[in-house]
Amino acid sequence: MTSVVSKASFKIFPVLVLASLTASHSSAQRLDTLVARAIDFSRTQLERSVKSLGDSAKFPRSTLDDGTWRIAKPNDWTAGFFPGCLWRMYEFTGDESFHAHARKWTGELKDQQLNTKTHDVGFIMFCSFGNEYRLHPNEETKNILLQSACSLASRFNARTGCIRSWDNPKWQFPVIIDNMMNLELLFWAAKNGGGKELYDIAVSHAEKTSQNHFRPDGSTYHVVSYDTTTGAVLAKETHQGFAHESVWSRGQAWAIYGYTMAYRETREKRFLQTAERAANWFLDHLPDDAVPFWDFQAPEIPREPRDASAAAIAASALFELCTLTEDARLQARYATEARRILTSLCKAPYLAANSASSGILNHTTGNWPAKSEIDVSLIYGDYYFLEAMMRYRQSERVN
Ligand code: GLY
Repeated sequence: MTSVVSKASFKIFPVLVLASLTASHSSAQRLDTLVARAIDFSRTQLERSVKSLGDSAKFPRSTLDDGTWRIAKPNDWTAGFFPGCLWRMYEFTGDESFHAHARKWTGELKDQQLNTKTHDVGFIMFCSFGNEYRLHPNEETKNILLQSACSLASRFNARTGCIRSWDNPKWQFPVIIDNMMNLELLFWAAKNGGGKELYDIAVSHAEKTSQNHFRPDGSTYHVVSYDTTTGAVLAKETHQGFAHESVWSRGQAWAIYGYTMAYRETREKRFLQTAERAANWFLDHLPDDAVPFWDFQAPEIPREPRDASAAAIAASALFELCTLTEDARLQARYATEARRILTSLCKAPYLAANSASSGILNHTTGNWPAKSEIDVSLIYGDYYFLEAMMRYRQSERVN
């Protein structure tokens, strides 16, 4: 009897394997097609935006009711993302007009290298000049980035072991989970002549944030405030989320991305474990279409606005995390989930095709508690969506 069952299984097994390989091959083909279409659409949207913004380099931030861009100043935390989108589109297409536009918008941010008033100097400079340097290494851009890293590092406080995120006097020394993203500028600078101190600052900040921003289940607080005399934690809050003990979706996505990057740069296992904890929590709580609501515990779910930017940031991070994690089960999970999120973003209602929006992704939420930028297009959602598609294509070339 046993041998009959095993013989039958041996006949069925290759059929099942073939069926599952065929299914995953055809879903990869479907995602290839969706990504190709989304890149074409992104190109059209970026060309339209460049045309509508005219000769002066204005920085698109979010869409208004009529779909046109609301403009930000060069010192706004979002200013680097439009040039970053142009660099990404130049990378996708090789089209020299995108190169010229990317250089123009990036150049307008040069003065921000001296901005010491916010941790966001990392977002502003690394998404613009950082992409320029990655594609065209040159001394002038390198020096601008090194100066930007010094400006960011000037916000480090040895007693707290962290970089101060905001200068808002509501907190004594506020550190936000988003700040993890800006460590990439410090890691880059340390490798490019900026000195080991920048690396040590980044590691110290990541270490402290891992200790104090995470709950035991792997979810995160948005803001932790420290006492600058004793270094003690004074408050743990979720300023842009629904409640202090809820989970703000974009914050959780910043945590996945930030610790994935921190592990890539340091190979410190504790940062990999932190990235996995953040990713597992995020994935365990996603709704069916894989795009989170603006806060995972927002009270009116499923009638709450989504945050497609959190999905885009997480998808991009997961495409990298699946190549770094050593656990085969997690590798498979992160690769599958990154593709699932990207598939959703490449289609309606998230892709802004056939809508009035000047952006690429719809249904993104900036700051719900402040009643600001709710269910619109946001330039950082577009930037990480383009990066996720780039990483998807790279992963397909490797496999
Ligand atoms: N870094 C600000 C935000 O994610 O809204």
